[in-house]
Amino acid sequence: MFKKILILLIFLFYACEQYEQDCTEIDNCNDYNLTYFDLVYPSNFPSPNIPNDNPTTFEGVNLGRHLFYDPILSSDNSVSCASCHKQEYAFGDNTQYSFGVNNSVGSRNASTIINSAFQLEYDWDGKSSSLETQAIRPIFNEIELHNNNWTEIVERIELSEFYSEMFCQAFGSTDIDSLKILNAIAQFQRTIISTNSKFDKWLRGELAFTDEEIDGFNIFSTERGDCFHCHPIGLFTDNLFHNNGLDETYTDLGRYEVTSNPLDQASFKSPTLRNIEFSSPYMHDGRFATLDEVIDFYDFGGYDSPNVDPLMKYVGQGLLLSQQEKDNLKAFLLTLSDDEFINNPDFSNPFNN
Ligand code: HEC
Ligand code: HEC
Repeated sequence: MFKKILILLIFLFYACEQYEQDCTEIDNCNDYNLTYFDLVYPSNFPSPNIPNDNPTTFEGVNLGRHLFYDPILSSDNSVSCASCHKQEYAFGDNTQYSFGVNNSVGSRNASTIINSAFQLEYDWDGKSSSLETQAIRPIFNEIELHNNNWTEIVERIELSEFYSEMFCQAFGSTDIDSLKILNAIAQFQRTIISTNSKFDKWLRGELAFTDEEIDGFNIFSTERGDCFHCHPIGLFTDNLFHNNGLDETYTDLGRYEVTSNPLDQASFKSPTLRNIEFSSPYMHDGRFATLDEVIDFYDFGGYDSPNVDPLMKYVGQGLLLSQQEKDNLKAFLLTLSDDEFINNPDFSNPFNN
């Protein structure tokens, strides 16, 4: 008995240390017992990027999932993260520019959130270097959740009472603060993993591709279509920034706004192509409505400019794909759809359950 209590005390002490919190609070929390969440991913993925001070736990993920779907995080209780990052659209949106508080719009297409645990930089220009800090921008951005300060947000959450048990379970304290809010949302987002597309099943030898899909795969992953350099097999993003020749003159300077390096003008993060079927419109400004338009763009080769990436090897020349080859490339891209991901109840709106 004594031994058990000692172990429990050591565990609580350790947990408190880990979250740098006021341990007197634990007295108010029932059953504070963390269950660690192992992210499951295939061997062709890199290791997940999980900060030591924010391990993924079932309790934290549950809290983060509620916060992600709750308009309580917006200044007028009208918009949530999920208003722009919808599961049915692979956690992107189906409009060019999504609506924030007061129906305001920005100038970038909502990014998808897929396998984010395996990335290092977030947003089209990579201005956020962790999922924990990324969420600060939408929370305060006037075209997104439009808050003025953390005090108001924390007060709203404290007043709702609904959350105190969940904060207790996730962090051993009913004390709500910005760090816990951001950590929980990041934990939930790390679990949004897609690894069960037709392509994955084919790679695992569980099913066969059609001849069209095989030809499309070959175009994608050889110099013929030359897609794989920036969208490599596995994550289907190299997590790097490129100017893929969308324009001759730039309106959005992209990565340059973060680095001030002239070479980075109009470079954007290669987006993952997983679930691309669900996340139209395409590109940082949502300029293309369909995959056919995207394929036609790459077939044309892209526009020349001082910043166009050297990996865009067919600028001014074009890929010269036949209509059949274009159709096959598209057939391959459609094998990256993961219906299980789009319908996974673990990622869905917890307030609808
Ligand atoms: C009004 C729409 C809107 C809302 C609300 C919104 N986002 Fe976003 N989100 C975007 C847009 C647009 C981008 C791309 C921003 C950029 O590149 O500057 C983005 C980018 C992201 C990314 C980067 C993904 C990647 O792979 O680079 C993450 C993660 C994200 N949002 C999470 C959140 C979270 C968490 C919330 C809620 C706290 C939220 N978003 C609220 C529109 C929105
Ligand atoms: C030089 C690197 C590079 C190459 C080569 C490349 N891409 Fe891209 N791709 C990008 C970047 C960067 C973006 C985002 C550009 C932007 O929004 O400004 C992108 C965007 C896309 C998108 C839109 C994704 C979305 O979520 O909006 C699709 C689809 C796509 N590429 C498919 C392909 C295909 C198919 C090929 C081969 C024919 C290819 N890419 C070759 C870098 C590349």
